[in-house]
Amino acid sequence: MSATPISAARVETELRALLGKGVLDSGQTAPLLVDQRGLYRGRPLAVVQPASVAEVAAVLRWAHGHGIGVVPQGGNTGYCGGATPDESGRQLLLLLRGLNRIREVDAENFSLTAEAGCTLAQVQQAAAAVGRLFPLSLGSEHSCQIGGNLATNAGGLNVLRYGMTRDLTLGVEAVLADGRIYEGLNTLRKDNTGYDLTSLLIGSEGTLAVITAAALKLWPATAASATAMIGLRDVPSAIQLLALLQAAASSRLTSFELMPRTAVDLASRYVDGVRDPLTLAHPWYLLCELRSSAAESLDEMLIQALGSDAAQALIAEAALAVGERQRADFWRLRESVPAAQRRAGASLKHDISVPLTAVAGFIDAVDRWVAQEIPDGMLVCYGHAGDGNLHCNVSSRPGVDLQTFRRHEEPLKRFVHDTVASLHGSISAEHGIGRLKVDELQRYAPPVELALMRRIKQALDPSGIMNPGKVL
Ligand code: MLT
Ligand code: ZN
Repeated sequence: MSATPISAARVETELRALLGKGVLDSGQTAPLLVDQRGLYRGRPLAVVQPASVAEVAAVLRWAHGHGIGVVPQGGNTGYCGGATPDESGRQLLLLLRGLNRIREVDAENFSLTAEAGCTLAQVQQAAAAVGRLFPLSLGSEHSCQIGGNLATNAGGLNVLRYGMTRDLTLGVEAVLADGRIYEGLNTLRKDNTGYDLTSLLIGSEGTLAVITAAALKLWPATAASATAMIGLRDVPSAIQLLALLQAAASSRLTSFELMPRTAVDLASRYVDGVRDPLTLAHPWYLLCELRSSAAESLDEMLIQALGSDAAQALIAEAALAVGERQRADFWRLRESVPAAQRRAGASLKHDISVPLTAVAGFIDAVDRWVAQEIPDGMLVCYGHAGDGNLHCNVSSRPGVDLQTFRRHEEPLKRFVHDTVASLHGSISAEHGIGRLKVDELQRYAPPVELALMRRIKQALDPSGIMNPGKVL
């Protein structure tokens, strides 16, 4: 990046001329400069909050002219430091939260167009208001923003049925590095006119362009659901049960979440109101949910599927949620696990995926390694087992000195990621690369893939101002 020196006073004057009150005072910005996990603390040149796409374009033109790096930020809920500026004091932090309008809801076309700064919950509610479903669902849905979900190709709790954010998107509008606007907001299901630039921008973590709005796919609203918490002896039973449930319920199976005993214990202990709904203590727990847009009896379907001889041979205990309140309680247990881990002490986190056939072997290998190498820690490997995506975390045991515990971070990461690579898995299944995994991507991605990514980056952002230091 070729930087033209520019004084702080001139930065302030020129940005104020473009945005007026959209240049934030330093008193307002402290929480925005630290990432969600507290891994990075940035020192920005300035923090700006444009109120329109035209203002975003003006900021990018200005930054491009001066060779200044731009770091886009949505709800700042990411796990990889992708939305935090570096410590140089030379990067501009660009907040998207001022662009927060639902531009259009077209129930008949099953589509909705939202600006990047809308929260995910706002998008879900706009869909629900016209009897439709926007199925992306994450623990942070009340604070994460749809622009960030697109930038990171967020996954979450319903990927098994609906796919990741890329699969839920029809088109995007984005501002390019030089301030030009890419007008890709079409709401078509079929459009084979050349390269798929929308797909390219989704998941690019602000390193190619700033997504300012998205046209999203909607589905019919949910009319029936059934939710069960299941206790299991081991992980192979979970994977076999997945196949049985998919055969019995077909695409009605929307979630299939796995938790070890350690996760259930942590959540029950550290998060108010959370309790284990099963009567016995089991080594593994599954939360699975069926949903349908037809008014059918899914409880009955789930009871039949779980009651079959094949399923009974795998299940130690099962509880079906009776009513919305109990369903919410089951989900609260699952969604409390990350917060419980934070409260319990240090947590060494990984976000991996492997083929379903390798899930049990992967967990077993990590479990044995952790038992041997990290006696002051415990494996809390939970997540979206139906997608082969696990949050393979190790929590410190009570009373352990957290600084000392951190010495396990590098060897554990190497073991986990080498094991994943040997199983043809991914070192980042749904959280992205950000700043945290730049070196890991270099280490594990095939050289041709990396070379192509660099060529794409060079083509879209020749002066390297788009979220510098992230992804590549
Ligand atoms: C989850 O599935 O709970 C999240 O992706 C968060 C995590 O990694 O802990
Ligand atoms: Zn997750």
